[in-house]
Amino acid sequence: MSRQRSMSGTIPSMETSGHTLKDNTVIVVLGASGDLAKKKTYPALFGLYRNGFLPSGVHIVGYARTKMDDEEYHKRTTGYIKNPNNDPEITAKIEEFKALSSYVSGSYEDPAAFDNLNKVLESIESGYQTKERNRVFYLALPPSVFIPVAKNLKENCYIFKGGVNRMIVEKPFGKDTASCRELLTSLKQHWTEDETYRIDHYLGKEMVKNLLVLRFANVAMGAAWDKNSISNVQITFKEPFGTEGRGGYFDEFGIIRDILQNHLLQVLSILTMERPVSFAAEDIRDEKVKVLRAIPPVERNDTLLGQYVAAGGKPGYLDDDTVPQNSVCPTYAATTLWIHNPRWEGVPFILKAGKALNEAKVEIRIQFKDVTQGIFKDISRNELVIRIQPSEAVYLKLNAKTPGLYTRAMPTEMDLTYKRRFADIQIPEAYEALILDALKGDHSNFVRDDELDVAWKIFTPILHWIEGQSGPRPKPVTYPYGSRGPKELESFIGKYGYKRSVEGYAWPVTNLSNL
Ligand code: NDP
Ligand code: BG6
Repeated sequence: MSRQRSMSGTIPSMETSGHTLKDNTVIVVLGASGDLAKKKTYPALFGLYRNGFLPSGVHIVGYARTKMDDEEYHKRTTGYIKNPNNDPEITAKIEEFKALSSYVSGSYEDPAAFDNLNKVLESIESGYQTKERNRVFYLALPPSVFIPVAKNLKENCYIFKGGVNRMIVEKPFGKDTASCRELLTSLKQHWTEDETYRIDHYLGKEMVKNLLVLRFANVAMGAAWDKNSISNVQITFKEPFGTEGRGGYFDEFGIIRDILQNHLLQVLSILTMERPVSFAAEDIRDEKVKVLRAIPPVERNDTLLGQYVAAGGKPGYLDDDTVPQNSVCPTYAATTLWIHNPRWEGVPFILKAGKALNEAKVEIRIQFKDVTQGIFKDISRNELVIRIQPSEAVYLKLNAKTPGLYTRAMPTEMDLTYKRRFADIQIPEAYEALILDALKGDHSNFVRDDELDVAWKIFTPILHWIEGQSGPRPKPVTYPYGSRGPKELESFIGKYGYKRSVEGYAWPVTNLSNL
C-alpha cells in the first residue's frame, strides 16, 4: 500500500498502512482489576463491540493479580458502561460482551503465570478456522511493572509465526528525559516500535483529531495561522475536583507530568506543526517532532506554579492524607513555550492546567492581533476558540456592526457547537477511537519514541528545578479550591500580550443547556 494517504471531501477515509485485524484476535487487558480498565478500557471495548468495530469472533481476556471469579470480573468490567434508561438492546449487548470476555489471575513477574495465560489464549485460538492468530496486549498497569510484563509477554505469549502482536502502553512514559530513555530502551529489547502503541488519550479526542482538518482543509484558517496574524495562544485544562484519594500518585508526578508534558503538548504539536505530506502516521509524526524540536526548554520565569488550599468546605491539597506534609507539589501550572521557527517566532504558547478549579474545561484559545487602528479604536481582538471538552465547539469571536441605525461595532461570534450542528451524531470516546486505531495498525494517534524524547527535553529542566535538583524547591502560590486558579494568573497571561474582550462580552455557552 502506498505510504501517502489523503482524506476525501464527503467520505473521510483514513486507510491505514498497517494490517487491520478483522478476525482471529484476542485482546488481553493486563491490569484488568484497575481503575483505568473499569472506567475507560472496558467501556471503550464495549462501545466498539456494540457498534461492530471489534474483529469478528473477538475474545477479551482480563489479567491481573487480584483473585476474582467471573461474576466479580464481569461486574467490574461492565459497571461503567452507560445504560441510563435500561435500553434492552444495550442490556442484550452487555450480556453478549460478557460472554466473550474471561479472566485469568496471575503475577506480573512470574514467567510461569504468563505461560498459564498463554495456554488460555491457545485454547481460545484452537477454535479458529484458519491458522492466523493475532494478539493485542493492553497494559492498563502502573509503569513500575511495564518492563517485566513486556518481557514476560514476549517470552511466553508472543506469536512468532502466523499472526500479529501489538502492545498498547499507557502513560506515564518515564519521569524525565533520562528515565524515559531507560524505559524506551528496556521495552525495545522485547517489542519493536511498530508493535508498540503508546497512548496519550488526548490524541483520540474528537476535537484534537479535528485540528488537522480545521487547519489544513480550510484556506481561510491556513492563511491566518502564523505570527503575522496571531498574538498569543492558550491551551487550558481545568478540572473541578482535586486529587482526592489519588494524592500519593499525584505527589510523585505533579500537574506538569500529569497534563502539560503529554496531553497539552500533544495538542500544541498538532496545532503548530507544518502540513504533513499525507495522513500516513510517519508523515504526521515527523511534522510533530519537527515543531517540538524547535521549542527550547521552559524557562523558570515563564512558569507560574500553584497549589490549592481548602475553601467552600472542600479540603486543600495538603489536607489529603495520602499527600506528604508540607508538599510543594504543584497542582496548577502555567508555562509559556516559544517556537523558534519562521512561522511562530515570537508567539507565546501558554499551557495552563489545574486541579480543583471552578469548572471542567479543556480548550484552545487563539488570540489574533489588534486590527489596524484609525477607523477603529478599542475594538476587541478576534479569537478562535476550539472547545475540546465538554460540549465540543469551535467559535470565532469577531466584530460586527450593531444591528440598527448606529454604526457601532460589537463583539459577537460565529459558532459551530457540535450538539447543535451534529445533533444526531454521537462523538466516540477517545479510548474507543484509539483502540480501533491500534486494531487497524494505525500509529498516527500514538506517540512515537523520538516524540516522547523531545517532549521530555522541553520539561525536564523545569521539573528538576521544581524537585529541588538545582537548588531550593520553588514554593507554589496558593489558590482556593473551586476558584479560577492563582490570582497571579491574570498578570502572568497579561505579560504575554493577552487582552480580554471588551467588558460584558462572553460566548453564550449557557445556551447549550437547552440543547
Ligand atoms: P491502578 O492503580 O488501578 O492499577 C491497575 C492495576 O495494576 C491494579 O488493579 C493492580 O492490579 C495493578 N497494580 C497496581 N499497583 C501495582 C503495583 N505497585 N505493582 C503491581 N501491580 C500493581 O492504575 P490505573 O488503572 O489508574 O492506571 C493504569 C495505567 O493507566 C497507569 O499507567 C496510569 O498512569 C494510566 N492512566 C490512568 C488513567 C485513569 O484515569 N485511571 C488515565 C490515564 C492514564 P492487581 O493488584 O489485581 O494485579
Ligand atoms: C489523565 C490524568 O491522564 O487525564 C488525570 O492522569 C486527568 O489526572 C485525566 O484527570 C483527564 O482526562 P480527561 O479525558 O478527563 O480530560
